[in-house]
Amino acid sequence: MTDAKERIAAQLLAVRDRSLAYTEADDDLLVRQHSPLMSPLVWDLAHVGNYEELWVLRAAGGITPLRPEIDDIYDAFKTPRKDRPSLPFLGPAEARRYIEGVRGRVLDVLDAIDLDDPSPLNRDGFVFGLVIQHEHQHDETMLATLQLSGQPGLVQDGELPKGRAGGPEEVHVPAGPFLMGTDTLPWAYDNERPATWVDLPGYWIDRLPVGNRAYADFIEDGGYDDPRWWTPEGWHWRQTSGATGPLFWTRDGGTWYRNRFGRTEPLPMDEPVQHVCWYEADAYARWAGKRLPTEAEWEKACGWDPERRRSRRYPWGETEPTPALANLGHRASHPAPLGAYPGGASAYGVEQMVGDVWEWTGSWFNGYPGFRSFPYKEYSEVFFGEEYRVLRGGSWAADPAAVRTTFRNWDYPIRRQIFTGFRCARPET
Ligand code: AVJ
Ligand code: FE
Repeated sequence: MTDAKERIAAQLLAVRDRSLAYTEADDDLLVRQHSPLMSPLVWDLAHVGNYEELWVLRAAGGITPLRPEIDDIYDAFKTPRKDRPSLPFLGPAEARRYIEGVRGRVLDVLDAIDLDDPSPLNRDGFVFGLVIQHEHQHDETMLATLQLSGQPGLVQDGELPKGRAGGPEEVHVPAGPFLMGTDTLPWAYDNERPATWVDLPGYWIDRLPVGNRAYADFIEDGGYDDPRWWTPEGWHWRQTSGATGPLFWTRDGGTWYRNRFGRTEPLPMDEPVQHVCWYEADAYARWAGKRLPTEAEWEKACGWDPERRRSRRYPWGETEPTPALANLGHRASHPAPLGAYPGGASAYGVEQMVGDVWEWTGSWFNGYPGFRSFPYKEYSEVFFGEEYRVLRGGSWAADPAAVRTTFRNWDYPIRRQIFTGFRCARPET
């Protein structure tokens, strides 16, 4: 195999190891639905195999279906999450056998494929990028399921760099055009294309994500009881949900705790806040006299290199993420403390933009001008409109394969089981 194919094979192997590690639990834990928001873990496991069968084996490889009778069960559109527990999905042992059978043939397709073939599924191994990123995204979803289950879950204790106090609170981004999205990154999704010039007025953006200390100040200042800070929809959410703080937070006397993978621990005040919904992020920003950055503001601050007038693949440049640059790839099961990654700063000096927590932006999820759906409408296009808010950057649970300055994630504004925080911005004047 060529080097490029070896790299793809290694990534396929790595993501599969990850999925199998997350599904090592007892069968009972794997088949149960821990929350109506999530699938049983074993559904995710076979779903990634079925997706690989659909795209690599059938679409790219022209191979006859292995198990066409299970397609509907693993079609996310035919089966809303809440209905998944009642499906005749494959049990854990059968699911593992199925995905292994698919994988063997996937490696045969990889062997045979021409990575220079101009067909868009084959070129640069796009279809492999599609399934690798897809599986990593489901792995992150599985972690959120494990966190919601309240069961002692899989906790990684890798060491992260220490935080760093001091430094400016905000960074100024001068007015001017930048190129948003990409035409060149080979594994970019349809929703990141085409690259588009966007001219922005100058603005200020927080150098770091909002931390637990600052968020607790908002709560202690009565932020959850003051409709001034909330939009009408946000206030409605606040009242109907009864939320008094981020998901998994509790307070005992004057001390804050969080539950993390089934264990209660003192809340580390110097980490970015996570498990807040869009409404909470938006309310905090208003309380702080700011607002959420638009998606364009976020991407310019993260990826634009104003000297070279081009965008970077990562905030720090083109080199692959390392443990010193960003908290990615589930080395530890939590965000790193604020200020831990000075070397990962963007050209403008904004820090911790990739890794740690997904960041809510003020924007709805929509296609860029000239958007064309590829390879299927149900990846991005069906979600466009005023229903989903854009998340950027990637969390500690996101894999580098599915992280770049142009990568876009999205979710409903009420969702907080995902590993999500935010930072604030404000206009120049
Ligand atoms: C991009 C994370 C919102 O998990 O719903 C997984 C990714 N698409 N399977 C999701 C996805 C199809 C998607 N998000
Ligand atoms: Fe999926």
